[in-house]
Amino acid sequence: METAAEAWFAPGRANLMGEHTDYNEGLVLPFALAKGVTAAAAPRDDGLLVLRSKQVPDEAVTVPLDSLEPGSVRGWAAYPAGVAWSLRAAGYAVRGASVDVDSDLPVGAGVSSSAALECSVALALCSLSGLIVPRPELAGIAKRAENEFVGAPTGIIDQSAALLCEQGHAMLLDCGTQRATQVPFLPAAAGAAALIIDTRVVHALVSGEYAARRAECEEAARLLGVRALGSVTGLAGLGEISDPVLRRRARHVISDCARARAMAAALLAGEDEAYPYLGRLLLEGHASLRDDFEVSWPEADVAVDVAMAAGAYGAKMIGGGFGGSVLALVPVSRDREVRAALTEAYADRGWIPPDFIDAVPSPAARKLR
Ligand code: GLA
Repeated sequence: METAAEAWFAPGRANLMGEHTDYNEGLVLPFALAKGVTAAAAPRDDGLLVLRSKQVPDEAVTVPLDSLEPGSVRGWAAYPAGVAWSLRAAGYAVRGASVDVDSDLPVGAGVSSSAALECSVALALCSLSGLIVPRPELAGIAKRAENEFVGAPTGIIDQSAALLCEQGHAMLLDCGTQRATQVPFLPAAAGAAALIIDTRVVHALVSGEYAARRAECEEAARLLGVRALGSVTGLAGLGEISDPVLRRRARHVISDCARARAMAAALLAGEDEAYPYLGRLLLEGHASLRDDFEVSWPEADVAVDVAMAAGAYGAKMIGGGFGGSVLALVPVSRDREVRAALTEAYADRGWIPPDFIDAVPSPAARKLR
């Protein structure tokens, strides 16, 4: 019997706190965006995966499912092909499909367009193939596609956010235990706005710096005698690490986990003064990423400074770094000024104008039809 075509949507994400903590088995606090990737898929009986993207017209990629192996597909199609490979590697019998993807997320802007692509396609392939895969497991399958098929050594935050976040909430996720706690996050109800500033500097996770940070964290954990830095709760033991660079890397991870926990607690308490406090934590998080982890970039540092001068509560870079976006929390009354000041500051420096995305905490991936 012919199965009808289906369409699945998966969102991008912003991360309030806990950057480069996921692969350290630490805490993250992402929320899902309204923007994302839609995968429209129809089944095929010939064992082929036919992939098209509205953003890359005239380039259909056709691959037999049986021939999928890491390295066999390159470019954007490696993400959806990798998901089919990873599902099969996990023992799920995926059938052939024609998949058409469309995205309203900027690529390389640190808002997790790749995980949105993976997760929308994963859900479509599972549904067409009659497979029921629990979402936490599916997040791991999509991550494996990115790690082993695409070759980017990322953690689990992006796929978890795309599949598990809830509308009006941020999700405190312990990447060591996979325990998720939904925390109410409703900036509009507090007279605030969460604003993503796309600095228009494109980042690439397959580049060496991300992997280098990961290796440094593993070395720091080894020196501290722990499995992963996420299990360390205080900074007292850092003296054990004599190398100043490794010590700073570890300090970032440990302090960012503490900030994620503090932020989630403040949101749960729902106090009036929460937003100025959240803003201070964002600023501390940015300084830590800039000075201790050294993954920020000039356009992000300027965006944070200019947003603060124009009245933001706080701001920090989000994602892997070396390009991408800054997330600012702004009193609604200052939103226009912040955007105008940023546009002017970038023009003054001769930089490409920044783009803005309203970051409204939105539902996780879902079936559209
Ligand atoms: C990228 C990776 C994530 C995470 C962040 C930094 O977005 O995909 O796994 O490590 O960087 O927090």
